[in-house]
Amino acid sequence: MASFQSAKEEIKRAADIVEIIGQVVQLKKAGKNYVGLCPFHSEKDPSFTVNQERQSFHCFGCKKGGDVFSFWTEYHGATFPEAVRDLAERYHIDITKDSYESGDNNKAIQRKELFKINEKAAAYFEAILENPVKGKLGRDYLKRRSLSSEVISQFRLGYAADEWDGLTGFLRRNNVDLDMAVQAGVIVPNDRGSYYDRFRGRIIFTILDQRQKVVGFGGRVLDDSLPKYLNTPETPLFHKGEFLYGLNSSFSAIREKNRAVIVEGYMDCLALKNHGLKEVVATLGTALTARHVRKLKGYASEAVVVFDSDEAGKAAALRSLPVFSNEGLSAKVVILPNGYDPDAFVNAKGLNSFLDLLNRASPIFEHYLDQKLTKETLDIEAKARILKEIVPAISDLNSHPQSSLYVKLISERLGIKEEIIWSELGSYKSSQSKNAIGSDLIQTQGLGVSKTGKTLSDTQLLNLLAHHPHAIPSIIDIEGELLISDPVVMEIVDTIFEKYRQEGINSCNRIEESLKNETARIHFREVLTGPSFYSENEVEQAIEEIRAKACQKKISESLTSFKRAKGDAEALNQLLKLKRLNRS
Ligand code: CTP
Ligand code: MN
Repeated sequence: MASFQSAKEEIKRAADIVEIIGQVVQLKKAGKNYVGLCPFHSEKDPSFTVNQERQSFHCFGCKKGGDVFSFWTEYHGATFPEAVRDLAERYHIDITKDSYESGDNNKAIQRKELFKINEKAAAYFEAILENPVKGKLGRDYLKRRSLSSEVISQFRLGYAADEWDGLTGFLRRNNVDLDMAVQAGVIVPNDRGSYYDRFRGRIIFTILDQRQKVVGFGGRVLDDSLPKYLNTPETPLFHKGEFLYGLNSSFSAIREKNRAVIVEGYMDCLALKNHGLKEVVATLGTALTARHVRKLKGYASEAVVVFDSDEAGKAAALRSLPVFSNEGLSAKVVILPNGYDPDAFVNAKGLNSFLDLLNRASPIFEHYLDQKLTKETLDIEAKARILKEIVPAISDLNSHPQSSLYVKLISERLGIKEEIIWSELGSYKSSQSKNAIGSDLIQTQGLGVSKTGKTLSDTQLLNLLAHHPHAIPSIIDIEGELLISDPVVMEIVDTIFEKYRQEGINSCNRIEESLKNETARIHFREVLTGPSFYSENEVEQAIEEIRAKACQKKISESLTSFKRAKGDAEALNQLLKLKRLNRS
């Protein structure tokens, strides 16, 4: 038997951090590292890095990092001694109870006690459900809900008889510290200094974490009384809003299918499991959060959310769009036929009909637009309002390959020019973000490239020059290539500059006729016909922005070619310094 200290050493020798992290984060080999999407903060481009040689991880985004123990404690919200014990168990390393406990601090002791009590309570509820007399009502209820005995035992369903002193008495007889049991949330103190059962006359849904440990319970009444569900309150072990019910049994299937099906309720999750759908989890009735999605994207690259057809379900679908887009998990939506939730649907129509719905699910953004644009005719104000509502939801998709598709879609559906939408996106983004150094190499290269190849700066620059020719002298010295990626825009801007050099400001009225290329002529006309993005007193600022962008781009390019050429560290420092100065 190993002591705490030597167990730690042994685990370090036995454990492989790539394997441990690889089970909950999708890692890809990149040079001598592995990279993936960070499970600790929102990101769409991987900055979470695992180094096998050093057995360490580091996230360049949120700066979390360390060894296998740090990962385990952070990911599972566990204490250090808990991590040592979990990993020791996993690698069959025997540690003595004494030496294990020598590593405990107060928090670790408390968590360990709470887990023990939860485990005892789960076993108690399971036993009551099986009890020929006390469990009959519960068994009958579950039969009515069509759950198989396999699902019942796999998910550790139980029953709390309708009595005040069932679990309380059981815990007391087993010498459990009842104040601790209160902290675990399974019993409640009364005014007379005694305790009573929190769950009475309810079906019990045991809530297991990814390590199969009991973190809490949900209890459902057998009739129509309220509240229908009662859950363990917030405890050091249970945070309802972060929890994905069923993930403990679904994660391998989610990884295998590369998709997670997300439903709202305990029964929805279990009914689908009961019919053989393996990759399903439930949010326990709370709104989908970044934490939920961050967990799932460690296992799959697509989620399908299934919402009820009621108003609440529709609203929830809309609210989840930015959550998914922020985390870079692609998502589809199924809206069930009127009056059905997933449980009712699969029991009435069978798994194949449900799979049909999943396979016909629409991408969440299209669904979002469908919902927003239900009215037949929209006046200009309504269009503007909808655009304002949509922009925040998709602004984070800017570097996403789908973003140009979305802009096109909005443009078609709203009858607003793509340029205006890009511009709205641009101003929203610049009002929102201050990018971190390092990520902007990617940013400047990928920023808002639309399907036609036009970028945000293409559009902004051309709009400025077309509508405010007096800005030309302040911009004419910038190398066009730095800002323009679309050849059509390039031709137009070149022509504008050339005419200006030859004939001065008055030439601007005759640009169109000087353009040789038909596409360029049409495009320029469209820009002139469309609205100006800048009012007269915003022109100065627009010039500033465009110049700054060009400067930044130039530095980024030098940096890229520098990296390619593997130059010396001093020159790199100079460049980075310049870059920082440029942003401040
Ligand atoms: N919920 C809750 N507390 C409530 C009501 C609901 O915690 N008072 C959570 C539960 O996790 C529940 C989920 O929200 O599973 C969805 O609620 P609802 O749709 O009302 O219940 P169903 O899952 O359809 O439950 P059932 O089929 O048993 O009626
Ligand atoms: Mn239901």
